[in-house]
Amino acid sequence: MKSIVKKTILKVKPYVPGRPIEEVKRELGLRDVIKLASNENPYGPSPLVLEAIAKGSKELNRYPDSDCFYLREALAKRLQVSANQLIFGNGSDELIALAVRAFVDQGDEVVIAKPSFLMYGIDSRIAGANVKAVALKNFHYDLNGMKKAVNEKTKIVFIGNPDNPSGMYVKEQDMRAFLKGLHRDILVFIDEAYYEYVNARDYADSLHLLKSNKNIIVTRTFSKMYGLAGLRIGYGVANAELIGFLNRIREPFNVNSLAQVAAVAALKDQTYYRGLARNINVQRQYLYKNFRELDLDFVESHTNFILIKTKDKAADVSQRLLERGIIVRNMGAWGLKRYIRVTIGTLNENKRLIKTLKEIL
Ligand SMILES: Cc1ncc(COP(=O)(O)O)c(C=O)c1O
Repeated sequence: MKSIVKKTILKVKPYVPGRPIEEVKRELGLRDVIKLASNENPYGPSPLVLEAIAKGSKELNRYPDSDCFYLREALAKRLQVSANQLIFGNGSDELIALAVRAFVDQGDEVVIAKPSFLMYGIDSRIAGANVKAVALKNFHYDLNGMKKAVNEKTKIVFIGNPDNPSGMYVKEQDMRAFLKGLHRDILVFIDEAYYEYVNARDYADSLHLLKSNKNIIVTRTFSKMYGLAGLRIGYGVANAELIGFLNRIREPFNVNSLAQVAAVAALKDQTYYRGLARNINVQRQYLYKNFRELDLDFVESHTNFILIKTKDKAADVSQRLLERGIIVRNMGAWGLKRYIRVTIGTLNENKRLIKTLKEIL
């Protein structure tokens, strides 16, 4: 089949996800495994969400609502946007894929940061785009460099804010400077998967920027802080015309019914999630303190994960942790051969990580 498969696919390196706990248990014969590899919420969703899922499961014989009516209403109200400015996806991953499918033809260009979230490059390469990756500067976006990389062939610029794996955010003034003078026929895709974790006052207010920039789409997810990674649901906000284009190519039932009821319930329990975000902040400080004591360099993060510099090869360190029942991410696939990325876990999980790092380093 190689002779007939799309040529663009031959060049694509598949995404390698964090390994599932059960798989590691089976493979290594371990009983107690923790996963700090996929930036999930270690506490799980709010109890209101679990109730809503139990109730919703009685109607699994029906197709889901293709328009996500109740979620759309709730979110439009919360974000102060019109209902037709929203699109929902099977995770925010799907929205990246939809944007690329809608805007990028073979031979077009896409500008991303290096390293950044892998799906920007993967989806763009599948579409046959030439991907220009502009190196981060000290783990920050080089937006001047990215603007210089834009030319008449550029269709999309991806900005992860904060991005994965750096954990770094783009400041309001830098985002404004980037948008100023940028050709309006270029889609600026602002991926805010970790939006809920950012506390910085100068974090770019993308929904406000949307009002005067019709070429922006902002995406967020219920996978990270909302603890619904297993149900797959994310959303995008943009002007209604842009959303209309994405809707033309969206599968009719792309968001399952349990994800929809779960997301509606999650939005209602902000008290639970605010507490959870506070707790992640406390745990982040706990890890920083211990990394310093272990003389480990790390990148201060505005998310629920941290990049740690390793003296040995990251592949070896992550393997040693894996053998002791701790799944972390080896950053080799991102070109960071001396870094691992750890998701901030519960206090017990973090204690175990620190204890194990002490043993193996
Ligand atoms: C920066 C970034 N964007 C998007 C996603 C995709 O999230 P989901 O498809 O679960 O919404 C991730 C997941 O790791 C991410 O790190």
